[in-house]
Amino acid sequence: MRLLEVRDLRTYFRTEAGVARAVDGVSFGVEAGEALGIVGESGSGKSVTSLSIMRLIPEPPGEILAGSSIWLKGEELVGAPETRLREIRGNDVAMIFQEPMTSLNPVFTVGDQIAEAVRLHRKASWKEARARAIELLGLVGIPDPARRVDAYPHELSGGQRQRVMIAIALSCEPDLLIADEPTTALDVTIQAQILELLGALRRRLGMAIVLITHDLGVVAEVCDRVVVMYAGEVMEEGPVEQVFREPRHPYTQGLMASIPRLGQETERLAVIPGIVPSPTAWPTGCRFHTRCPYGWELCVREHPPLFPIGGDRGARCWLETHPERRAAVDRATGGFLGLAGVGAAALGAEGPIALEATPAESWHRRAAGEPGVPAPEATAPDAPARPLAEDPDVERDVER
Ligand SMILES: Nc1ncnc2c1ncn2[C@@H]1O[C@H](COP(=O)(O)OP(=O)(O)OP(=O)(O)O)[C@@H](O)[C@H]1O
Ligand code: SF4
Ligand SMILES: [Mg+2]
Repeated sequence: MRLLEVRDLRTYFRTEAGVARAVDGVSFGVEAGEALGIVGESGSGKSVTSLSIMRLIPEPPGEILAGSSIWLKGEELVGAPETRLREIRGNDVAMIFQEPMTSLNPVFTVGDQIAEAVRLHRKASWKEARARAIELLGLVGIPDPARRVDAYPHELSGGQRQRVMIAIALSCEPDLLIADEPTTALDVTIQAQILELLGALRRRLGMAIVLITHDLGVVAEVCDRVVVMYAGEVMEEGPVEQVFREPRHPYTQGLMASIPRLGQETERLAVIPGIVPSPTAWPTGCRFHTRCPYGWELCVREHPPLFPIGGDRGARCWLETHPERRAAVDRATGGFLGLAGVGAAALGAEGPIALEATPAESWHRRAAGEPGVPAPEATAPDAPARPLAEDPDVERDVER
């Protein structure tokens, strides 16, 4: 039995613009001791997925829909009473967030805050809890822990504060640690150190990790398996090594193409044209079709399932059943890298698409070079491209 089994998770929000289907039928599992990465651009539903697992979604406006299932160590969390959830959060699962300063209380020493967490989870005197706090600070690599235990959060660096948050998370000796963008607020060298720490702790304590990040490079360093999310769905999943060697979903290929490599000029990075659509109005068919250089009419019309593609892998893409389409577009354009930079001049391979000119379709028509339609661009229609490199959230990642 897996440690965590998420099945058909749907978490929706009521908003003024309508129902936001933030997470829409997500399934994945985590084995004991395994590190799973969840990647995807901003707004793809990564945080809502992790908050759903912790049952920390504000309800209302949020709701985990009936039919969703979150099994942790053989226990169903959807519908579990709050008292039980509190025990589970204290003992089985812990979560760390992006910005450690907002999670730490500025008026208490870090030692008091760790000791408090220790006492919450097990019967311990303050003296014992303080001793454990010092031990935990040492474990997360804070130098001179016996002295730093009396420091206030503002006296520590950003990286050290994140280490304190990790110490608090470890105080309950969780089987599963969920880390939601734990390093994006930190500078590059500190990011690497925190990731190394997470990897080392996992090996030493045998706990499973779910690591959420924009950054496929981070996943490559730390994780065994990866789930690629887009528009509230899993687009591709599999062992990290295989997904990296041979990404199958065009979205994964696009993310891979945008990983900066050492010595590469940042402006030459291939980025996925267009932006993530709104969760109140996902595109029809394949939700990536408004941005996909391979898309054709079937993709606009029919929602692809997550096809099993062997070796514990899956991809939600019609190219799995229509490999000739991939071959034809690749032949004409030189593959995804060629497409991302210049627009999909070859999209007319199966003829222009004669449907209503929604933005998606008009993009395909333009890409197909229909007369009277402007030449294909690298951007989706009506949606100015915001390359990942210009996204303030990932700026630091790109500097690497
Ligand atoms: N409380 C809420 N009310 C309404 N919509 C919400 C709420 N929380 C999240 N959403 C919506 O759900 C979608 C998914 O958000 P989520 O935070 O999971 O994205 P993400 O993948 O974590 O992105 P990022 O990389 O920016 O952290 C977004 O469109 C967001 O606006
Ligand atoms: S289903 Fe079609 S639009 Fe979606 S990713 Fe595959 S080729 Fe692209
Ligand atoms: Mg998030």
